[in-house]
Amino acid sequence: MKTLVIVAHPDLTNSRINRTWMNAFQQQEHVTVHDLYATYPDFKIDVKREQELLMAHDRIVLQFPFYWYSSPALLKLWQDEVLTYGWAYGQSGTRLHGKELMLAFSTGGPSAAYQPTGVNQFKFDQLTTPFQAMANLTGMTFLPPYILSGVRTLSDEALVQATSSLIEQTLLVPTRK
Ligand SMILES: Cc1cc2nc3c(=O)[nH]c(=O)nc-3n(C[C@H](O)[C@H](O)[C@H](O)COP(=O)(O)O)c2cc1C
Repeated sequence: MKTLVIVAHPDLTNSRINRTWMNAFQQQEHVTVHDLYATYPDFKIDVKREQELLMAHDRIVLQFPFYWYSSPALLKLWQDEVLTYGWAYGQSGTRLHGKELMLAFSTGGPSAAYQPTGVNQFKFDQLTTPFQAMANLTGMTFLPPYILSGVRTLSDEALVQATSSLIEQTLLVPTRK
């Protein structure tokens, strides 16, 4: 079982959460960490290389800070350019079939803000439906996401704990086939 962690953070130098997660993933066996913004600072994505990376792994983790209720822009561009018709979807687009997709993201807003009565009004499972739909269309199983909310007030101890939980959930969640 090989896991690909695609990290999409435009400013990892000043990141607290995603940098910690990325460093932790880099120490795991059978995990490839792929820093999207470092690889493509000019936003010129090598589609063939990305498709080969996807093909070489079983579980794909998209790791990012929540930006405007979604992912940072380069990850959206990656979806637009890499998940092509005839490759990822459409009649002959079966290359991702049977793989697993998992989201791991951090949010500034606390979990209470992501309730119908909260400031953001929508729950995480509503806001992540485009990713879920993407998994459906490309024949991937959408695994339960790992969401760390309210990170502005998160203690260092809680971050250490959350990072362990993320690694455990990512690497140990049973394959559903
Ligand atoms: C451009 C931008 C958009 C953001 N949008 C959201 C948002 O929609 N919801 C939210 O809860 N936090 C939002 N945030 C806060 C980030 O999610 C938060 O700073 C990030 O998860 C912290 O992770 P890091 O330490 O790895 O940078 C946003 C931050 C930025 C800079």
